[in-house]
Amino acid sequence: MRHFSRRSVLGGLAGAASITALARPAIAQAAPLKIGLMLPFSGTYAALGENIAAAFELCLKEQDGKLGGRAVTIVRVDDESDPAKAPANVNRLIGRDNVDVMVGTVHSGVVMAMVQAAREKEVPLIIPNAGNVAATRNLCSPYVFRSSFSNWQPAYGMGKALAAKGVKKAAWVTWDYAAGKESGDGFRDGLKAGGAELTQVLTLPFPETNFQPLLAKIPGLGVDAVGSFFAGGGAIQFVKDYAAAGLRDKVPLCGSGFLTEGVLKAQGAAAEGIQTALHYGDGLNNPKNTAFRTLFKATTSRDADVYAVQGYDAAQMLAAGLAATKGDAAAIKPLAAAIRAARIDSPRGTFTLSPSHNPVQTIWLREVRGSENKVIGAAVEALVDPGTGCKMPA
Ligand code: PHB
Repeated sequence: MRHFSRRSVLGGLAGAASITALARPAIAQAAPLKIGLMLPFSGTYAALGENIAAAFELCLKEQDGKLGGRAVTIVRVDDESDPAKAPANVNRLIGRDNVDVMVGTVHSGVVMAMVQAAREKEVPLIIPNAGNVAATRNLCSPYVFRSSFSNWQPAYGMGKALAAKGVKKAAWVTWDYAAGKESGDGFRDGLKAGGAELTQVLTLPFPETNFQPLLAKIPGLGVDAVGSFFAGGGAIQFVKDYAAAGLRDKVPLCGSGFLTEGVLKAQGAAAEGIQTALHYGDGLNNPKNTAFRTLFKATTSRDADVYAVQGYDAAQMLAAGLAATKGDAAAIKPLAAAIRAARIDSPRGTFTLSPSHNPVQTIWLREVRGSENKVIGAAVEALVDPGTGCKMPA
């Protein structure tokens, strides 16, 4: 691996290693640091992308628009949560816009193109949502960091909490793509850890919302509960349809916390009482959370949610890394070392990264009460993704 990539702020001088090392700091301060924000600003995950971007920029503003002493410019790309368009969108950011750092995205399929580019083109990437486990397992890299979660984490917490309540058999309902499948794996592992069993997985293609054929099967499954992964617009529809089908009193619905995150107003009474598990929740009582929620509301007129928290923390992680390199995003060794060593003062509670660069964090059990995902306990404290297959270069 090259220590100083072609993306060094020295660009054209990259061949001359000794000159590079000497001249970098001065030049680093002269040119603005370019950050490519690749997120969905349209489609079923649009609201998620908007909150991530808004909170990322909020954190930047708190730092006077600078990271590591360098002014920051932001380039936005709407990835539409479309994996087919992802390689072209990433190429645009790196090849045309020449960004120094990438931040993105929401969708587990789309993020794979970003991870691949980060590794091959040596451009640091902070993932502010997408939970694709590969990013911090077999494809882990010094260039790739996550401020969010692995798909496995919240669902593992949900499975474990459900088993602890005495559920013996449960099914998983989700979209047929990496996030749905991997969170199903977490749910299965959590159930198993508590002596319960995942008996069926029902899927439909992303981002379809014709849930009726799946809902029709649920009464015949013979399960005590249904767990699910849906998010954004799809989660609104699923929770409403589940209630309208009269299933709520027959087979309780639960899930990864995204099911009811940022969507409660739209779901209304259909969501009342649903339990979910997530690394964030309403009413987490710490000063950082209180200040963040107040500021986010004042700036955007929206309530903060987990997506906003992850966007804010992506900027905090970058700030920690770039402070150590005086704004040089190409100095990957000290940058990565600083992010790894950081304790991120997050609204979710302070967290650190695992050796494969995924947050080690408590998964909270929440219950929908009115307009809140009220935290009712810890499903699993300080949960570490297993990081299976990660061979992080020194
Ligand atoms: C994902 O695709 O990884 C994903 C998308 C939306 C969420 C969570 C995970 O809310």
